[in-house]
Amino acid sequence: MNIFLVGTGLIGGTLLDQINAQANIIHVIALANSEHTLFDDSRIDLTDWQSALEESTDDTDMAKFVSKMKSLNLKNSIFVDCTASEETQNYYEEILNAKISIVTPNKKANSSSFETYQMLKNTAAKNSVKFLYETNVGAGLPVISTLNDLVKTGDKIIKIEAVLSGTLSYIFNVFTDKMPFSTVVQQAQKKGYTEPDPRDDLNGVDVARKILILARESGLSMEIDAIEIENLVPEAGREANSVEQFFVELKKADDKFAAMQNQAKCNNKKLRYIAKLEKGLATVSLQAIDKNHPFYDLSGSDNIVSFTTKRYKETPLVIKGPGAGAEVTAAGVFADILRTI
Ligand SMILES: NC(=O)c1ccc[n+]([C@@H]2O[C@H](COP(=O)([O-])OP(=O)(O)OC[C@H]3O[C@@H](n4cnc5c(N)ncnc54)[C@H](OP(=O)(O)O)[C@@H]3O)[C@@H](O)[C@H]2O)c1
Repeated sequence: MNIFLVGTGLIGGTLLDQINAQANIIHVIALANSEHTLFDDSRIDLTDWQSALEESTDDTDMAKFVSKMKSLNLKNSIFVDCTASEETQNYYEEILNAKISIVTPNKKANSSSFETYQMLKNTAAKNSVKFLYETNVGAGLPVISTLNDLVKTGDKIIKIEAVLSGTLSYIFNVFTDKMPFSTVVQQAQKKGYTEPDPRDDLNGVDVARKILILARESGLSMEIDAIEIENLVPEAGREANSVEQFFVELKKADDKFAAMQNQAKCNNKKLRYIAKLEKGLATVSLQAIDKNHPFYDLSGSDNIVSFTTKRYKETPLVIKGPGAGAEVTAAGVFADILRTI
């Protein structure tokens, strides 16, 4: 296998270490970050790829990268997109048409328009190559492959419920009556669990992108606008032009969150930020759930997904575990790479 990797940050870098430790059959031919590109058509020595990439005088230019990858015309070429960029997806169609498989944890393409999502799947099929993105949802957890297996074997999806944000999982697992909501969010930010601007977690858009992908994988031609999203950022906080100002506004909403927490506690319930797909409708919202619910005992920053189907009706099929993190996500990307042949 010949790998062309764009994005050598947390996930891409960990993937390179895993490939170096694990598999001699995988040759890494090209690497790129946002500044530098490195090509070596015999294979890049992965023992010190960081210095080699840093010292490379080739600036990153995606059009040139793709053109060079195509011209090398190596057998079993795989393009791996470990960026969070919107730019890379513009090349996916061209890459698949060049009979090069794509593996990516970047969910931007699959959560853009349904037309793009469908076109990429059709282009991969037409060219008999793979387009694999297991790590778009639940990181290394086998969420998409499980859903695909259910659908392909003729099961009928009745309901999908899921906690799909490690950050929001952590926040609501820690939030009790002992600490104001804004303090919990602040602490999560300090521990590096949130995005630099926690509004990017609290607004629910990332969770909506993930349930959108699951909706599409289950056969629905859904667009992101169709998803009802409960935005946890108070209205005034959305307008705030700094993170500090946002926290000032979030503090003002502490009583509201405390009231929700108290009411849940009085009813022996817990708050969870849940994505749900049922009867063709997708929602993302804060819910109070009781102890019979499979999400009641969630802890840490774990993700959980529950599939209720025609076959798994009495007891849903539940997948739980870390839904983020370098090692598990990179291993999920690695497993997809191995699935391309
Ligand atoms: N972190 C997780 O736990 C996790 C879990 C599931 C999925 N993912 C997904 O995995 C992807 C990578 O995440 P990460 O945490 O590794 O991010 P990261 O540490 O920020 O790394 C991103 C990498 O992409 C490079 N990059 C950005 N734009 C680029 C462009 N236009 N052309 C070439 N390179 C570009 C960056 O270059 P520089 O080094 O020059 O900045 C960096 O090397 C994201 O799509 C993320 O959503 C992450």
